[in-house]
Amino acid sequence: MANAKIAPSILSADFANLGEAVSSLKDAGADLVHCDVMDGVFVPNITFGPKMVKDIRKFTKLILDVHLMIIDPTMYIVPFIEAGADMLSIHVESSGDTIENLKKIRAKKCKAGIVYNPETPLSGIEKYFDYIDFVLLMSVNPGFGGQSYIESVTDKIRKLKEIIIKSGKKIEIEIDGGINEKTYKKAISAGVDILIAGNYLFSGDMKNKITAMRG
Ligand code: DX5
Ligand code: ZN
Repeated sequence: MANAKIAPSILSADFANLGEAVSSLKDAGADLVHCDVMDGVFVPNITFGPKMVKDIRKFTKLILDVHLMIIDPTMYIVPFIEAGADMLSIHVESSGDTIENLKKIRAKKCKAGIVYNPETPLSGIEKYFDYIDFVLLMSVNPGFGGQSYIESVTDKIRKLKEIIIKSGKKIEIEIDGGINEKTYKKAISAGVDILIAGNYLFSGDMKNKITAMRG
């Protein structure tokens, strides 16, 4: 089985002790730190803004992967990159000029990603390929950790992988939502490059879990 990078989602960490939680991720074997930004409008939950990303940045040298669940991300792109994001993703369902926003991300030397909700079809995704480094496929409806993996997304990963291979582009696939010991293998065999996991990794011994996930 191909190896995937592991990105713990700090949505499941204790926000009152975030520095400590973020510092421990490298030793636990994580490759990236996934940060969920929620505005209470695009999704029915609120998390944090650029200040938190800036403060998290001080606690780790790992790649900061910032997932924007914001109704119109346009004015927040630069602040999140200046706060320390290494990868920044925006939803295809959000408003604003998506291609312009993706260009803006890359212009700041940050990796750009586009996110698809479980129900959003991949049709027309090729038009973004010149502007992205990765695609994040949601395998739950965004807003909360601890939900169950939507099985139909496995086929979507497979389909996306085919489209990417056909295009000849170097674009990575991330999966987000309901990743645990029962679901990660399906996602990897379908072609995922980066596994995001919140609830599963933050409950119990993260190091053991990541070691097991690496096979
Ligand atoms: C959900 C977030 C996810 C979330 C995943 O809206 O985008 O990153 O933290 O959590 P788990 O792995 O618990 O489903
Ligand atoms: Zn996320």
